[in-house]
Amino acid sequence: MCGIVGYVGHKSARDILLTGLKRLEYRGYDSAGYALQNKGSLLIRKCEGRVSDLESMDPGDAGSSTVGIAHTRWATHGEPSIANAHPHFDQAGRIAVVHNGIIENFMTLRKELTGSGVTFESETDSEVLPMLISQEVAKGKKLFTAVKDALVKVHGAYGIAVISADEPNTLVAARYGSPLVAGIGDREYFVASDVAAIVSHTRDVIYLEEGEVIEVNLEGIQSDNGHPALIRERIEYVDWDITDIEKDGYPHFMLKEIYSQPESLTNAFRGRLDLVQGTAHLGGLQMSEEDMRSISRIVITACGTSWHAASIGKYLIEAYARIPVQVEYASEFRYRDPVLSPDTVMIVISQSGETADTLAALKLAKERKCRTLGIVNVIGSTIARETDAGVYIHAGPEIGVASTKAFTSQVMALILIAFALGRARHVLNRKQGLELVREIMAIPDKVSKILENSSGIAEIAKEFTYARNFLYLGRGVNYPVALEGALKLKEISYIHAEGYPAAEMKHGPIALIDEMMPIAVIAVKGAAYDKIISNIQVVRARHGRVLAIATEGDTDIESVSDWIIRVPEAPDMLIPLLTVIPLQLLSYHIAVARGCDVDKPRNLAKSVTVE
Ligand code: AGP
Repeated sequence: MCGIVGYVGHKSARDILLTGLKRLEYRGYDSAGYALQNKGSLLIRKCEGRVSDLESMDPGDAGSSTVGIAHTRWATHGEPSIANAHPHFDQAGRIAVVHNGIIENFMTLRKELTGSGVTFESETDSEVLPMLISQEVAKGKKLFTAVKDALVKVHGAYGIAVISADEPNTLVAARYGSPLVAGIGDREYFVASDVAAIVSHTRDVIYLEEGEVIEVNLEGIQSDNGHPALIRERIEYVDWDITDIEKDGYPHFMLKEIYSQPESLTNAFRGRLDLVQGTAHLGGLQMSEEDMRSISRIVITACGTSWHAASIGKYLIEAYARIPVQVEYASEFRYRDPVLSPDTVMIVISQSGETADTLAALKLAKERKCRTLGIVNVIGSTIARETDAGVYIHAGPEIGVASTKAFTSQVMALILIAFALGRARHVLNRKQGLELVREIMAIPDKVSKILENSSGIAEIAKEFTYARNFLYLGRGVNYPVALEGALKLKEISYIHAEGYPAAEMKHGPIALIDEMMPIAVIAVKGAAYDKIISNIQVVRARHGRVLAIATEGDTDIESVSDWIIRVPEAPDMLIPLLTVIPLQLLSYHIAVARGCDVDKPRNLAKSVTVE
């Protein structure tokens, strides 16, 4: 949560920081601020609200400043306000800090600091940082050493950037549990919590390691983590394009990302399908066929939309590979005493690769000596690096807070994993494998077709702008799709929505049904079709109004539905990749019709790096 940008160079720091913050706004958008080194002191601007509000503040003579730090916040400790906005300062106003993460022992530190005469301006945990650093500087230490020594007293998670009015052209940054990346340009250097903030300036980056502290000045980057020369060897090249993080003519990132799914799905399976042997190859898993045959149990853990993908993964792996799979909310898993043994494979799914609960669940599995595999989008993210092996989904940057293309790519990665396991374990034969390869490769065109024919969804959405509640029903592998449809609607339109296994409805939610309650039913042709038609009949008998997600050419559905959105046919196990698309579009259009801020829904942030 929260976004950090820092700059040391020869250009206007304010401009670079503001552009960077705009690219990070998906991480938090309730308040923002910057601090610049300016003629021997610090020039500070902070506001409640968006980065655009910060931009419209009088910059004073910020134009001459070439060093600074900035922050966009998602409140954890203390409401969104100017006082709680970052940067935070020491009492003399000479040291400024921006922080992402949580200082868990901040109460104790605050008490100690207050006891020694320090006065705090904010309610945040972060404000202890400049105070602690200032105490170390007062002992005669340079900023770099002062930051290192101050951080020894801190428990929790942090990505920080620090500047001092007394050390011109110098910025110190550190990370522990919150991501931080340093960018290397032409006589200019950047730090940011996400590459998106700096990719328009440089593609040469270094991902800070856990616990690492760096000093950035006009001569380069120095780390406390080994010899300075090693920094050059750690440079990685960011291979995605700036257009990936721009709206590209779409009104919202979410819509752009929904429409990019034919391409992102292709990227997820590109180079991974074997058209001769009829299998999938995932080198990143680092598993031999023998390893795959020896797995006795799989646990998949994740949060939110990634948990819904995990739930589809259970159906896939059990059907294709006959391995028992347990799916766990990472936030629950981490706080119980789960039964895990070294023959358990733990799969961790995360778009951002930074979700705190998922990371904690991963750490628990590692302590219990499980083999851990990641299904991650963000390259070089903490979960990608902490897992033993894994699969990148290659969806490209996902900016919309509501996850769409990452979800379908996660499901695609799970299909490939289930496929590879199924072939290695001889549950699927070569003929079945070749058929599956063909079906997988046909998916992007089928998604394109849904998107091309989707103009009616915006019309249907208008019917539902009034709705206060919404029910989503599905069976089998489409049950997690129903959950995902409901989550999408809740997140961006603020309409209460619930996903339910269709047959469970009669055990309770049926009481909610009346003519005011729209019910989206995933009623595609397949194993559960007849059953789901019966479930629809039950709904209609109670005057519920049914929006069916149905298969092209199915005429039987017409007599039992008020609205129909069609998807092409696909094998049962691949169908979530199609059925979810109309639900993504439906929630998008409902939210737009209700005037909601689709890309920045209230109270949410893209990456939840706090518990
Ligand atoms: C998705 O629309 C949500 N914003 C949210 O549920 C998200 O999927 C969840 O926070 C997990 O994030 P991750 O995939 O980055 O770990």
